[in-house]
Amino acid sequence: MRYTTLDQLEAGQAELLRAAREVAPRAFNPVSRFQVGAAVRDVRGNVYVGTNFESSALPLGVCAEPAALLAAISAGSRELTTIAVVGGDPAGDGKGAPVTPCGGCRQRIFDATGGAATTMRVLCSNLALGSVLDVTITELLPYPFGSSVLPAAAWEG
Ligand code: THU
Repeated sequence: MRYTTLDQLEAGQAELLRAAREVAPRAFNPVSRFQVGAAVRDVRGNVYVGTNFESSALPLGVCAEPAALLAAISAGSRELTTIAVVGGDPAGDGKGAPVTPCGGCRQRIFDATGGAATTMRVLCSNLALGSVLDVTITELLPYPFGSSVLPAAAWEG
């Protein structure tokens, strides 16, 4: 686990966090008011974003991470290198703890790497982009459940 700051990151990674920060206020969050923005970068440097989307039927809400992953996948991009996650309560000072992917989203990010989990970087921050947690999905989800234990026919990636 490694905490860093925006100015210590490579330009492309800082840009990815800013993209996640930019999309966070577009969150569809009438239930929690909590804003989350996610931005995924692929090997060509393309960036795809998403926000959380809540439902009046509470368990149907969707996190920002799968929204961004689906934007990438829908655009035909599967070689994903980094996901940035930024969030917080907009009524606060933005300086809370970095928002880390929930357990279910760790599984989704792991699956979306298509077997490249150890190189999939996850950058997490708060709305002020003040403190950045810079880890891999393998660090967030050690000993994952994955395709390797499924019958070959059940998973083609
Ligand atoms: N949320 C995300 O979008 N991503 C996470 O990793 C954590 C939680 C959303 C779900 C819900 O809309 C709100 O944040 C509060 O839980």
